[in-house]
Amino acid sequence: MQYRNYLASPSSWRLLRLFLAFIVASSLLISYLFLKSRPSYALYTILAKHEISESRRFIHNSPDNKYVLFKQLQGAGFNNQAQEILLFHHLAWLTSRVYVYQPIIWRPRGSQATVPLSAFMPGVTRNSISAAVFNEACSPEETKRIKVRVNNGVLWEYTKQQLNGREKCIVVEDWILNWNFLASAALHDIWPEFQKYLSKYFQWSDPIRAIAARAHNHLNLRESLSNPDGEPYIALHFRRGDFEGHCQSLAEHYTGFTTWATLPSLDPSTYPPTLTTANQTSVIEHCYPTLHRIVEIIDAQVRDKPHLRTIHVLHDGAWDHPLVYAQHYRLEATLTNAARAKRAGWVGGPMRRVTHSGQVPIRWGEADWAVMVDVELARRAEVFIGNGYSSLSTQVVALRLGADGGRVEDITLL
Ligand SMILES: *[C@@H]1O[C@H](CO)[C@@H](O)[C@H](O)[C@H]1NC(C)=O
Repeated sequence: MQYRNYLASPSSWRLLRLFLAFIVASSLLISYLFLKSRPSYALYTILAKHEISESRRFIHNSPDNKYVLFKQLQGAGFNNQAQEILLFHHLAWLTSRVYVYQPIIWRPRGSQATVPLSAFMPGVTRNSISAAVFNEACSPEETKRIKVRVNNGVLWEYTKQQLNGREKCIVVEDWILNWNFLASAALHDIWPEFQKYLSKYFQWSDPIRAIAARAHNHLNLRESLSNPDGEPYIALHFRRGDFEGHCQSLAEHYTGFTTWATLPSLDPSTYPPTLTTANQTSVIEHCYPTLHRIVEIIDAQVRDKPHLRTIHVLHDGAWDHPLVYAQHYRLEATLTNAARAKRAGWVGGPMRRVTHSGQVPIRWGEADWAVMVDVELARRAEVFIGNGYSSLSTQVVALRLGADGGRVEDITLL
């Protein structure tokens, strides 16, 4: 009795136990989440080895090849890196050089962690070589190092001329496809050829395609017009999370849409009023649109499309951005409200189903592919509503219009 009093009263014991239980439960939860998002190292090691042996075989079998190694973006999100890699591969292809590819910098594993490119986009690694064996293809004597510092308007053509040279190996030492270039009209001239490139070379890896097929099945979403399974759907890219602050800084720098969202053919797809980069309110309006505006845009797309009563929302809600969920549920409540749908003139009644990124059946060890599955779900949707400031959205736009021959009418930019 005496020592019990000395230690603690029964009620504080209970509190302590509760506290310990809480600590144990939260550390279990944290390690679960950590493991779940943990990539499968074994697979990546196999892929990296395979990339190297394939590269060696390629170098050995075709001694007359010419190569190009570019300075690439180190970091940023997956889609920023992917779009640059695709453009570089395209540029190498246009100039009959073998593209020397580098791994993806994969932030979820650490700021400098890398993942083999073939885990995501095997189309780029075929008939290309890994930078890991660049020195086996190119001796220093055979390698010309160049800098291509010219203005955006002539950069692409000038680089092509340089790469058309006779040197066996070229290393481009400056970062040519910088943000500035990607937002410039210079990109428009590249588009017609790049579309063909995408339809010919773009490919997701098998796991990505398998998860996307599973997601379509599980969420009962129609994969393509020719596939009778599942319901036709709209995909909305609801870019929130860190975008609130990001859009503010874009507005302060009078920034416009990124990459393919700037294509003149998409001008009619941008929901009015027109984006005026000199007007900061206008930048915010398009970059971080209000729920009201988003619903208005959905109205415009579905008012006379009664067969579209399922919407899939790609969002970035996560433990560090919990408010995104609250906004998502407000959006869902609005879209499924029968009275509102009637007021807005929806012929076919309100949305019957609202699915979202959190419901995509990603299994243990697959979390690295979630972003690409999101892209794929948006790409296959009958209608896509995206954000012209987001590289995920512009990647979706490029794949729909380029790889799949889709229509601009089925795209609206917020
Ligand atoms: C700036 O953009 C906002 C949002 O589109 C608009 O309401 C406002 O009139 C614009 N201001 C000017 C000066 O054009």
